[in-house]
Amino acid sequence: MTIQEQLQELNTVAIDAIAKSDRLDDLEQLRVKYLGKKGQVSQILRGMGKLSPEERPVVGSLANVVKSEVQASLEQRKQVLQQAEITAQIQAETIDVTMPGVNRPLGRVHPLNGVVDRVLDIFVGLGYTVATGPQIETDYYNFEALNTPPDHPARDMQDTFYLPGGHLLRTHTSSVQIRYMENHEPPIRIIAPGRVYRRDTVDATHSAVFNQVEILAIDKGLKFTDLKGTIKEFLQRMFGDELPVQFRTSYFPFTEPSAEVDVQWQGKWLEVMGCGMVDPNVLQAVGYDPEIYTGFAAGFGVERFAMVLHQIDDIRRLYNSDLRFLNQF
Ligand code: DAH
Repeated sequence: MTIQEQLQELNTVAIDAIAKSDRLDDLEQLRVKYLGKKGQVSQILRGMGKLSPEERPVVGSLANVVKSEVQASLEQRKQVLQQAEITAQIQAETIDVTMPGVNRPLGRVHPLNGVVDRVLDIFVGLGYTVATGPQIETDYYNFEALNTPPDHPARDMQDTFYLPGGHLLRTHTSSVQIRYMENHEPPIRIIAPGRVYRRDTVDATHSAVFNQVEILAIDKGLKFTDLKGTIKEFLQRMFGDELPVQFRTSYFPFTEPSAEVDVQWQGKWLEVMGCGMVDPNVLQAVGYDPEIYTGFAAGFGVERFAMVLHQIDDIRRLYNSDLRFLNQF
């Protein structure tokens, strides 16, 4: 075969192979095979040395024609294959707009936390600072420093879980009063939310674990009217303006005088909190001079507030994480 014939043959074979290739990778291999430095066209042209000077330019221009024809069909095929690749990709990525969406339910605040948040908001607005204390307490902070020595009959008011080593689970957040006063000088205004424990039999209104909020204010010249004003303001912001409120005489070892607060709820008086003027013995226990400072304190159960606000009939609903219940808040 002459060089011309070889070139012509290559042209036909190459264009045919290019037309049949259906992958971009294969196409690149064909380009190297025919047009690359060590490709077939170069190999054929190596035989040019044996040609006469007249033949050389003829073969040279034929080689150029073959090269550009092969190059052109490579380009053309490449475009076709690229377009097909894009089409396939688009088809694979098609979004089915009729497909139902994935439902991601919104989380919400638990009704107990909702009450605590509201209470904290109100008291922080009145200038109070949030304080906390440990749930495992000593007898001293839970009882003794709160004017409740070991043989005091008031200990019966709060049936206690005792732990080994003189510890106990705090029966009320009043222990935080002592811890805070020990480390701060008056004037003091604190609000202390937290979990408390009692050996109560569980029923619709009792739980062995529940939540309280404690309020304490110590300053020069604080009087019972300050306590009353603060509590009334708080209850009105919590339950609304028209709510009738009454203070009823009561007894707590750590306050003197002491009172319980009732709100008028669905036709009857409902007890919502205990309060009073801090007993001088409590002030003395933390090294405050009761001749200079007076104060008031109050404490209430968060569950009770949540039940009144949301008309919940059973305290246990607040603990068993039933979404049919929780979704209503
Ligand atoms: N600690 C009391 C209880 O759990 C509630 C209480 C009453 C707290 C009077 C006070 C208070 O701060 O002054 O029953």
